[in-house]
Amino acid sequence: MNAPHSLSPLAAVAMAPKDPILGVTESFVADQNPSKVNLGVGVYYDDNGKVPLLGCVRRAEDVRVKSGAPKSYLPIDGIAAYDRAVQELVFSKVSKNIVTVQALGGTGGLKIGADFLKQISPAATVWISEPSWENHRALFEGAGFPVKEYAYYDPKTHGLNFDGMIGVLNKLPAGAIVVLHSCCHNPTGVDLSRENWQSVLEVVRARGLIPFLDLAYQGFADGTDADAYAPRLFAEATQPVFLSSSFSKSFSLYGERVGAFSLVAGSADEAARALSHLKRVARTNYSNPPTHGADIVARVLASPELRKLWEQELAGMRDRIKAMRKALVDGVQRRVPGFDFSFVMKQRGMFSYSGLTREQVLRLRSDYAIYTIETGRICVAALTSKNIDYVADAIAKVIQ
Ligand code: LMR
Repeated sequence: MNAPHSLSPLAAVAMAPKDPILGVTESFVADQNPSKVNLGVGVYYDDNGKVPLLGCVRRAEDVRVKSGAPKSYLPIDGIAAYDRAVQELVFSKVSKNIVTVQALGGTGGLKIGADFLKQISPAATVWISEPSWENHRALFEGAGFPVKEYAYYDPKTHGLNFDGMIGVLNKLPAGAIVVLHSCCHNPTGVDLSRENWQSVLEVVRARGLIPFLDLAYQGFADGTDADAYAPRLFAEATQPVFLSSSFSKSFSLYGERVGAFSLVAGSADEAARALSHLKRVARTNYSNPPTHGADIVARVLASPELRKLWEQELAGMRDRIKAMRKALVDGVQRRVPGFDFSFVMKQRGMFSYSGLTREQVLRLRSDYAIYTIETGRICVAALTSKNIDYVADAIAKVIQ
């Protein structure tokens, strides 16, 4: 006989809040306004408002489909050629001291690292920037860690509060886990300079902190090598280094969930022992990763011709975002003379921390069907020559 309804463990389950980023997409999709614009989630659109299928991806997919490649289970840690290609791209070398595990996007890479960290440093606290990607806190709390914030963004200057950041890091106990955005800080677009990175590295080494680098936007600031400055600097100078990376944006492969977790260990032996546990984390969560996206990335990175094409296409995305940043700043400043929006030009990557208040964000949504994150984060990569005037008009109206 069925238990009475009131005894069901589901009876007391309340609605969870909508996801602060993907929940915005849900609201956008439900909106019937034909002028609607989604500046919420971090997705790059081309100037026609379409998520591009990159030429290098299309060509690699053609080859894969024609070869009739089967889709059996992958090894737990993914395609070996992919893992090596990730290491080469991120660290500019392949090393026995580094292990790389194919993961379900950058988020999956973070989760593999977080679950492993919980096994080896169960009492540690995780420190994220203030503010940080909306999912960092939830992800590390979900892995069982207390999560605290280090100073990062200064709303008065719309820039970096580096003294505040170093001040906090300098007080952390040994073994504290520090999540650092390698480039294109999400959500602010405010990055550390190379000198800043050197100083952070010194503190990490002096205090015995555990750096966990998040590299989701390699190639969106200055290029694939320049944007890997921090991972390469840290990998040479300290161990361990935890790192999550993603091809969602750089290959426009969002839905394929192509990412990786890498760990820079102190020796090949340490790396091998760590890998055995990372594989257990993957196996007990999702068994082994999917074939298609990682195979495409591995093929592109292994082919000099496709790799060149990819770098060109990536540069095209980067340049279009920069052009849209400028168009937004010009458009708003033209409509609101005297209003200084120039800080947006200094921000890097897909996002702009626009300084819009929550109330202004909600007005953009209700009056213009323009969707942004409630913190005021705007995805500049979703602006196009077709929607820029509409967006600049609307922002000008809500800030006046
Ligand atoms: C974002 O910040 O919008 C992206 O990283 C997508 C996501 O999963 O949140």
